[in-house]
Amino acid sequence: MSAETPVCQLLERQEADYRGWWWVAPPRDAWLEAGEGTAISADASLLEAWRGHGRPAFSPFDDGAAAAADGGVAGAVLFWPKSHALGEWWLLWLCTVLPPGTPLQLAGEHQGGIKRVLKVLAALGLGCRKRDSARRCSLFETRLGRVGLDPDAAWTRFEAAGLTLVSHPGVFGHGKLDDGTRLLLETLPGVLPQASGKGEGLGDAPGEVLDMGCGDGILAAWLSRRGASVTAVDVNAFAVEATRRTLAANGLPGETRLGDVYATLGERRFAAIVSNPPFHQERAIDYGPAARLILEAPEYLVSGGQLVVVANAFLPYPDLLARAFGGFEILADDRRYRVYRAVKG
Ligand SMILES: C[S@@+](CC[C@H](N)C(=O)[O-])C[C@H]1O[C@@H](n2cnc3c(N)ncnc32)[C@H](O)[C@@H]1O
Repeated sequence: MSAETPVCQLLERQEADYRGWWWVAPPRDAWLEAGEGTAISADASLLEAWRGHGRPAFSPFDDGAAAAADGGVAGAVLFWPKSHALGEWWLLWLCTVLPPGTPLQLAGEHQGGIKRVLKVLAALGLGCRKRDSARRCSLFETRLGRVGLDPDAAWTRFEAAGLTLVSHPGVFGHGKLDDGTRLLLETLPGVLPQASGKGEGLGDAPGEVLDMGCGDGILAAWLSRRGASVTAVDVNAFAVEATRRTLAANGLPGETRLGDVYATLGERRFAAIVSNPPFHQERAIDYGPAARLILEAPEYLVSGGQLVVVANAFLPYPDLLARAFGGFEILADDRRYRVYRAVKG
């Protein structure tokens, strides 16, 4: 099995024994998934794929990651992400969870800014040496140390819609309310009346509402404040953790789950599914998750349950809604964004 991505092709040619190493924030690559070591990633789809191959894989917010660290880690390769702030978070986190002196390699594409790690490592007082370069990628190496900086400092708070929102680099809309989400929040009171008590008001009892693609938890917190029993799902572990912290910051109840669209929901059925669906993967347009969200929604709704989504007006969701539900209505349209509603018959 040969490496598929340029960055893994660079790693493949190293004369290094990566047994017992951590692959941190790795890309999807069959060579890595068939090899040695443990994946540490915030991406639920990637974690699922590794586990599907019988490989150990943990989110950084998983107790399993701490347990794996206690079990001894020979070294770590950090795949430097496009978001520099996120790369710094991973670096500080590794310095916190792994012992000083643990070998660290940092790999990435030149166009993704890997060369900036030199400055970052210098600022942290960690030496660094270039180990290799090929395929428009570079590989640097250093050793972890105690740097006295808390990765938790990357969590930020801001106020929106009368709520305190907790966010993190790499979480959608980091630090501001999205215009589409704002339109959705203005529209929701007309279709999701405020509950007068638990289990009432949001359509039929039990008033279970799913926030799909929860980001920093703005919709989950808003819904919970109105009395809904909220379940919030996101494929990104930072988003799930942000939502957990947002709910806690506002003293609101709600369940959070890391998962790829409906993958973790089994037999659950909801009175409503509310979403500002994703249509980007990194920087590329990807309608895949949004299409699954819409097409599979009827399976996760009670009879009479509704899907309410906001989307850029140009996105091809009307076709998907018509296919899944046989019809839909447009609740709001400010020319940039539309709020759609479809009801399960
Ligand atoms: C447009 S953002 C909306 C965030 C938040 N609900 C808001 O309104 O500000 C879409 C969210 O969907 C998440 N997402 C992307 N792919 C997903 C998938 N396959 N399953 C679940 N969530 C996904 C993204 O991580 C992102 O947080």
